[in-house]
Amino acid sequence: MKQVHIATFGCQMNDQDSRMMAQILAGYDYEVTDRIDQADLILVNTCSIRQKAEDKTYSLLGRLKRLKTINPRLVIGVGGCVAQQEGEKLLEKVPYLDLVFGTKLIPRLPEMIRGVEEDGIRLARTDLLQPLSYPVLPDSRKSPFPPIKASVTIMQGCNNYCTYCVVPFVRGREESRSSREILSEVKTLVNQGVKEILLLGQNVNSYGQNRPGELTFARLLGHLEEISGLERIRFTTSHPKDLSRELTACFGQLSKLCEHIHLPVQAGSNAILGRMNRRYTREIYLEKIQALRERYPTIAVTSDVIVGFPGETRKDFEQTLELLQAVRFDDLFSFKYSDRPLTRARLFPDQVEAEEKGRRLKKLQAFQKEVTLARNKALEGTVQSVLVDGLSKKSPFEWTGRTRTNKVVNFSGPPELLGRTLPVKIEKATLHSLKGSTQLKAMELEKVHGN
Ligand code: 5AD
Ligand code: SF4
Repeated sequence: MKQVHIATFGCQMNDQDSRMMAQILAGYDYEVTDRIDQADLILVNTCSIRQKAEDKTYSLLGRLKRLKTINPRLVIGVGGCVAQQEGEKLLEKVPYLDLVFGTKLIPRLPEMIRGVEEDGIRLARTDLLQPLSYPVLPDSRKSPFPPIKASVTIMQGCNNYCTYCVVPFVRGREESRSSREILSEVKTLVNQGVKEILLLGQNVNSYGQNRPGELTFARLLGHLEEISGLERIRFTTSHPKDLSRELTACFGQLSKLCEHIHLPVQAGSNAILGRMNRRYTREIYLEKIQALRERYPTIAVTSDVIVGFPGETRKDFEQTLELLQAVRFDDLFSFKYSDRPLTRARLFPDQVEAEEKGRRLKKLQAFQKEVTLARNKALEGTVQSVLVDGLSKKSPFEWTGRTRTNKVVNFSGPPELLGRTLPVKIEKATLHSLKGSTQLKAMELEKVHGN
């Protein structure tokens, strides 16, 4: 068998795509290896959401040059968002690169690789108008344990064209997958032991809109709720403009739907939201959060924010801080605005100076740190339902899992808890995780095991 090493940058979509690459290539006698120096084929699955992410690709490719010199038969391919964005130019920039494949060309990988190996040609293909493709097989990670959690892509692409974002250009138009296929994939995963699924899409709230007669996202959740053996359902990412009342109502109503929503706000100033083409105001955003919390008071809400968008004044920035104060997110991912090719915002005047962006980011992150910690601390003394999904990174004697609100909990407990959902008392909260102890007495543990 030949060896393929797949290096993955970026989001969960890319993780899924890398899994698809591995599965497809397994059918062509390629086995995945962690050892990059032993690979016959190296695939780099790239991200171009910000310049910093893109730079990582070039830095890895730079390091691969040496391997190619040692082994001229080594085939190096680049896929993902940088590949889609750059196409043939990438072959010019990196003379020892063999293959560039766009985000929709993963199913064509075997024939492209054969072209390189047999005919010695260098290839770049970035056609975005390919039909939808998804992993045919469920996750087949090499692990002695059954997978506890799995992701299922329910849609690809994005039609929103936020003015800073490269995604619609590198991932193509929004396309939903049929609910029949999604439900059947989830059932297969559950039969393999999966307890929790994460539904993936750039904007899952608009699921089904391009498929006449298809279920709405909320109704899809309703059907997933019926799958016996499935314990938890999560989804990401949501666009605030498409967060419907129907979806809000699902929280607390569907017992398997975990009480967490990632709802990127991006900015707190209406002027900036307008120029970002987000199509909601801060008032509408705040109303949606209020509706979610009315529905389910302890729901966790996380978000994304960009600082230093072109034209962002200090006052605009203050409004973002005020919004963070008003909402008190459970956690926040914050970024300095980064100019992206093909996007409209790169042509906007009044770019914010790099240093000022840095200052704003620091201020915002310092504020959020306190809120995240305070929110975690508020859980001390409570009992949370935790799905155990592995051993703690810090200690091999501790289990790790997540609350329904998606917070990491580490706790010590007896063996064989993997895949179990059990009550854990939170004893200590830090910024990134919670520490707890099982609430189960020996007899109750028996019951859990016997489940
Ligand atoms: N610059 C900075 N951050 C960006 N994001 C998307 N595009 C850019 C950009 N050009 C952020 C947004 C998005 C998250 C995935 O990445 O906050 O929600
Ligand atoms: Fe990018 Fe906006 Fe689409 Fe999200 S909704 S992927 S930020 S264009």
